[in-house]
Amino acid sequence: MINIKSEREIAIMKESCQLAAKTLNFIEDKLEIGMSTEDVNVLCHDFITSHGAYPSPLNYNGFPKSVCTSLNEVICHGIPSTKDKLKDGDILNIDVTTYYKKFHGDTNRTFFIGNVAPEIKDLVKVTYQCMMAGIEICKPGTRLGDVGAIIEEIAGDHGYSVVHEYCGHGIGREFHEEPQVLHYGKKGTGVEIKPGMTFTIEPMINLGKRHCKLLKDEWTVVTKDKKPSAQFEHTILITESGHEILTLDPDKPYSPTFE
Ligand code: MF3
Ligand code: CO
Ligand code: CO
Repeated sequence: MINIKSEREIAIMKESCQLAAKTLNFIEDKLEIGMSTEDVNVLCHDFITSHGAYPSPLNYNGFPKSVCTSLNEVICHGIPSTKDKLKDGDILNIDVTTYYKKFHGDTNRTFFIGNVAPEIKDLVKVTYQCMMAGIEICKPGTRLGDVGAIIEEIAGDHGYSVVHEYCGHGIGREFHEEPQVLHYGKKGTGVEIKPGMTFTIEPMINLGKRHCKLLKDEWTVVTKDKKPSAQFEHTILITESGHEILTLDPDKPYSPTFE
């Protein structure tokens, strides 16, 4: 069952989503070489809780931390650790989900640490373009297969691959709701999107092959070929005329240039 949100629900969801976006803006300024992913976790945890929200990942299906931190070849669900220190040339995805007034807001970005190699910078830039292209076509009548197809096409044009095993999702009172939002697919197929739906688009794009491996901690997902992977995520709302990105901080809307 796909939940259609009421005006009242949408207003609250927007608050939760904006707090998640503000958390990413906050952490962006704190990132520096030498800090650990656990430092990132603590800073985000404290920011989220000090704004009256709960970090949705914490204890979600046993996840032990408050955000996911995925470095380089980690595709998603990296567990923050004092052992993982940021170094020059790394890419770090931070995935923040807030639970505020009973609604979840979910967003992630991939950050550059120091000087990143041009080919990896390009991967990150194209991954952002993939997410935005998927978002831009969303309006009533678009099918989820159209979203997957455009993401797959852009990634493929650059010689990159799309991870199949993890996907976007409906979101609201639950962290993960229907529908599943695949980042690959066939135009004209799949669920037709309707006003009042809220879901994430969060493509994971690999520099090498698409295949992944789950580490023994049962959370960390890495590329099989150990090449880097990037991801971006927004939570969006389908409106009567199109869509609205909910996970933007109105005081500082994210709009990267990747220079
Ligand atoms: N935030 C992730 C997503 O985009 C889910 C993380 S689940 C966790 O759906 F348990 F690893 F936190
Ligand atoms: Co998500
Ligand atoms: Co997320």
